[in-house]
Amino acid sequence: MEFVPLGDSLVPKVAKLVNRCLEFEAVTPWTVNRCTILDPNYDPEMAVIAIDKGEPVGVVIGAQRTKAPPELVSREHGWLKLVVVEPRYMQSGLGDQLLLAVERALKSKGAKDVRVSDFVGWYFWPGIDLRYQDLIRFLGDHGYVKVNENVEYEVDLLGLRPSSLVLEKEATLAAKGYAFTVAPQDRRSEVIEWVHSNFGPLYSHEVSETFRHDVPSVWLALKGGEIVGFSAYRTSELDWFGPIGVSEEERRKGLGSVLLYKSLLSMREEGRRIALISCNPHLFFSQIPSIRGVRDYWILSKKL
Ligand SMILES: CC(C)(COP(=O)(O)OP(=O)(O)OC[C@H]1O[C@@H](n2cnc3c(N)ncnc32)[C@H](O)[C@@H]1OP(=O)(O)O)[C@@H](O)C(=O)NCCC(=O)NCCS
Repeated sequence: MEFVPLGDSLVPKVAKLVNRCLEFEAVTPWTVNRCTILDPNYDPEMAVIAIDKGEPVGVVIGAQRTKAPPELVSREHGWLKLVVVEPRYMQSGLGDQLLLAVERALKSKGAKDVRVSDFVGWYFWPGIDLRYQDLIRFLGDHGYVKVNENVEYEVDLLGLRPSSLVLEKEATLAAKGYAFTVAPQDRRSEVIEWVHSNFGPLYSHEVSETFRHDVPSVWLALKGGEIVGFSAYRTSELDWFGPIGVSEEERRKGLGSVLLYKSLLSMREEGRRIALISCNPHLFFSQIPSIRGVRDYWILSKKL
């Protein structure tokens, strides 16, 4: 058995390991890249891969916010983005070894606590799927406790139609001077700055991702030409919807619902079958007829 950092050549194999061991996942090499090498905070010393006979059999990836977003940079907190070990190696203590190696690396770099696995901006999942009871138990045995939870909703986009109620809201809003438009590339900095000042650096990072597409995957609500709300989709992954936000003084007027449908219908037109929405349980989303909560995530944490 040897322990190596994650390099480009191992990425496809790590994706396969994840899908083999975590039966509810369907990650691609893109996802592994996005959450590791492409994360500006990526530190190879915290991505430890156990290799046996040339194949990865266990991976633990840690992270700290050392570069991005700049406002949240701090060595005080650590995260585990990925903990996966081939079941047949669990009894051998490989999981303990990998976990301790990454915890030690985090501690030596100043982390006082560590969370699994909601490293917003560059995460695989916003927590641990509750169905991975063995993983939760393994982390529990190592002192991790539940500190929060998240839900992932799935919207079946097949059959999605504009809701008559929302169309009515849109017409009423239009009569009052509101308009809805896809953000043009030349409003990139304005949009990102607006989201930043209204919703902070994590939302603005995610919205900035939509501008990597020729036509940015973000809808805007405008009043007199000024931005008052947005809804983003296809941020880091093709099936992802969100974030969405409306300025505080403009809420409960229907803007959020119109923006939500605009993005979901864009996804539908672009050929996506489903939209995935991860967030704290939220009443706002229950207005979509084909939405259902599909995954419950626990966020675990431990003092180092
Ligand atoms: C969620 C959000 C985008 C909704 O925008 P909005 O313009 O106020 O939404 P709408 O006016 O279209 O609301 C539609 C319905 O959703 C429900 N709803 C909206 N906000 C709600 C809230 N905070 N609590 C409970 N229900 C809510 C209501 O049923 C509402 O209908 P009603 O006003 O007739 O009762 C807005 O509250 C927001 O920006 N929140 C902060 C960011 C956020 O939490 N985003 C979601 C996670 S990414």
